[in-house]
Amino acid sequence: MAKPSILVTRRLPDAVQARIARHYDAEFNDDDHVFSTDELLERCAGKDAVLPCHSEHFTAAVIDQLPASVRIIANFSVGVDHVDLEAAKQRGIVVTNTPDVLSDATAEIALLLTLGAARRASEGERLVRGGAWKDWSPSFMVGTQVTGKTVGIVGMGRVGQVAAARFRGFDMQVRYHNRSRLAPEKERGAVYHADLDEMLGQCDVISLHCPATAESKGLINAGRLGRMKDGAILVNTARGALVDDDALLDALRSGKLAAAGLDVFNGEPGGDPRYRELENVFLLPHIGSATVDTRNAMGDRALDNLDAFFAGDAPGDRVA
Ligand code: DGY
Repeated sequence: MAKPSILVTRRLPDAVQARIARHYDAEFNDDDHVFSTDELLERCAGKDAVLPCHSEHFTAAVIDQLPASVRIIANFSVGVDHVDLEAAKQRGIVVTNTPDVLSDATAEIALLLTLGAARRASEGERLVRGGAWKDWSPSFMVGTQVTGKTVGIVGMGRVGQVAAARFRGFDMQVRYHNRSRLAPEKERGAVYHADLDEMLGQCDVISLHCPATAESKGLINAGRLGRMKDGAILVNTARGALVDDDALLDALRSGKLAAAGLDVFNGEPGGDPRYRELENVFLLPHIGSATVDTRNAMGDRALDNLDAFFAGDAPGDRVA
């Protein structure tokens, strides 16, 4: 029987590409360039499946132009905001993602951002690296201590729950806002807030872990930043779209927030250039899932979904 044909849009770990090559008639992207929409559509011609990353945007217009042969978009990502799920459903295209396997890696980055922002890591690193570290004094590089403080998790799904466990390692009290309250064994003593606005003023650190949807776009706006404690820290490992950049920049410039730690941005790659001018932001280039273990696991998860689909079974991680 002929192997299903598949377009793999980005260079994946060697072991994952080897597994793909064994079971599929695959077209790879060896130099790992980002496809234009035209190239993406051209390369989809005659393919049964596409295995993309969040760097490829399957808008309604793109999905509308996909060749009829494409029956599944098996994402190498947990986030699916780059795919118009409704448009895919309308065309009968199955969409899958890779949950669970990146929770640990992403939670690690949430903690790194928290500590980096709180303890002024970018500023300090720049001083040492640039040879500008000339003195030590009791007032030098004084930051915010997070041990024993309160963290508010926005979105207590898989990543949020792991992040909460890691924050507990710093003896932090955990509060959370989520669409629904978790069962006690998942809550593990965290305080539930049905109302996000009510939670914001009670936390020293706010860490975002919810998906970007039409409803959550701009969730952290001027009003909500105003409700946060003076001197609080905002951490975002989820999606840039959750944050209104103008409002966050104002809050950072005015000192309303002590600092922010950002791994994700509106307008990636690059992000809003105004953040680069501020000392009180700790910036990373969307590397939440960037570990060898996690990238291999994401590939395997995407392939498990594809294998199930082509075996006529329901893929475990179907989102549309
Ligand atoms: C994800 O999986 O959603 C990560 O942000 C990387 O795309």
